[in-house]
Amino acid sequence: MLVSKSIGRGWQLAELLVKKQLRSAISVACKSTTAAIIEREMKYGAHNYHPLPVAIEKGKGVFLWDVEGRRYYDFLSAYSAVNQGHCHPRIIGALVDQARHLTLTSRAFHNTALGEFEQFACELFGYDKLLPMNTGVEGGETANKLARKWGYMRKGIPDNQAKIVFCENNFWGRTLSAVSSSTDPTAFTGFGPFMPGYEIIPYNNLEALETKCRDPHVAAFMVEPIQGEAGVMVPDAGYLRGVRDICSRHNVLFIADEVQTGLARTGRRLACDHEDVKPDILILGKALSGGVLPVSGGEGWDDTGYRVSACLADDDVMLCLRPGEHGSTFGGNPLACRVAMAALRVMEDERLAERADRLGRLLRAELAKLPEDRVSAVRGKGLLNAVVVSDKLDAWEVCVRLSESGLLAKPTHGDIVRLAPPLVITEEQLMECVDIIRDTILSM
Ligand SMILES: Cc1ncc(COP(=O)(O)O)c(C=O)c1O
Repeated sequence: MLVSKSIGRGWQLAELLVKKQLRSAISVACKSTTAAIIEREMKYGAHNYHPLPVAIEKGKGVFLWDVEGRRYYDFLSAYSAVNQGHCHPRIIGALVDQARHLTLTSRAFHNTALGEFEQFACELFGYDKLLPMNTGVEGGETANKLARKWGYMRKGIPDNQAKIVFCENNFWGRTLSAVSSSTDPTAFTGFGPFMPGYEIIPYNNLEALETKCRDPHVAAFMVEPIQGEAGVMVPDAGYLRGVRDICSRHNVLFIADEVQTGLARTGRRLACDHEDVKPDILILGKALSGGVLPVSGGEGWDDTGYRVSACLADDDVMLCLRPGEHGSTFGGNPLACRVAMAALRVMEDERLAERADRLGRLLRAELAKLPEDRVSAVRGKGLLNAVVVSDKLDAWEVCVRLSESGLLAKPTHGDIVRLAPPLVITEEQLMECVDIIRDTILSM
């Protein structure tokens, strides 16, 4: 009896153990399914984004793989931060090498990488000086501060009265200054009071700019050469040249926000190069790190990751800032500087601008063949493109269906699908993607 009782208890224990192990095996497995990953993010993360229902585990070149091993073409490139392709070996190599030596000194001391990066970038883009920051929006903030300072020191604007002009539907980030200049109610509603001294004019309208610039309190005009977040709005040919002329005539700084359009994305090193114009302040971000730097920022940050950004300007503007007036603990850190140099070298050596120009033309020509009752417009430059879907289709639905067919793109404004693959995509891969996009849209 005793023996059989203890055998019975033994079995019970064994059964319990197996059940427990099974439960933990199932829970481990569940943690790495798309559904479980989404559920956890929803539970513990702020609800400030609305991602497509895919959970990515790995990236290489133009491809991303989800946690179940499905492969996708990436047609967003982290909003143009991954122009050089995911995990580019030269950029990762630079990251790892530098990480073994030194990652951060702050700007309290000099470091061996910062000056080299500054010289490299200044020579490449043709400016006297560079001011390194981290995210794109900090690049915009820096440009705004520089412009105000220049307005007081050089243009003679009375204290605290400087104005900066922006365009309707601009996007330069999520800080209070950035949303103060926004015309998108979702971006600004509930976040007032707003930054004073910001003026708004329509995009692609030189007359409106000229009128504003007659105001002697205007220090600068800040503009995206193509409005990315607004839905890839390409201005008329000659717009940037017109902006340059008007700003020069009225002694107003021309600030080009090339955070999204810069670094080969539109088929030139800078989008301003299409019209051969040099802005007074150039803001770069995103692809300046090739999208590889580790995440920083604490809980509560709405950002997708820690990046490198920079403002470039000539001495007359840049030397308006003196020690202590602007900076960032991470700005100009040696890790970021080495990564940025590698990212820029990849852009140059792999002739990414030429590739974007050629493949962008091909992509638009192919997409233009789609019937008008499905796609009402195709626009873009280089590999920064968008299709506007007709009112028969919903852009979110299109993107969900594209993801089921192995291509990840992001909808914007309900009827626009942005198409911006890493610039390392080959012609053969691009044509495969054209097939996916065409078949998906036609099947809906
Ligand atoms: C034109 C432009 N400027 C600035 C930003 C802000 O960059 P970040 O998100 O790195 O702050 C973005 C981001 O999409 C952008 O498209």
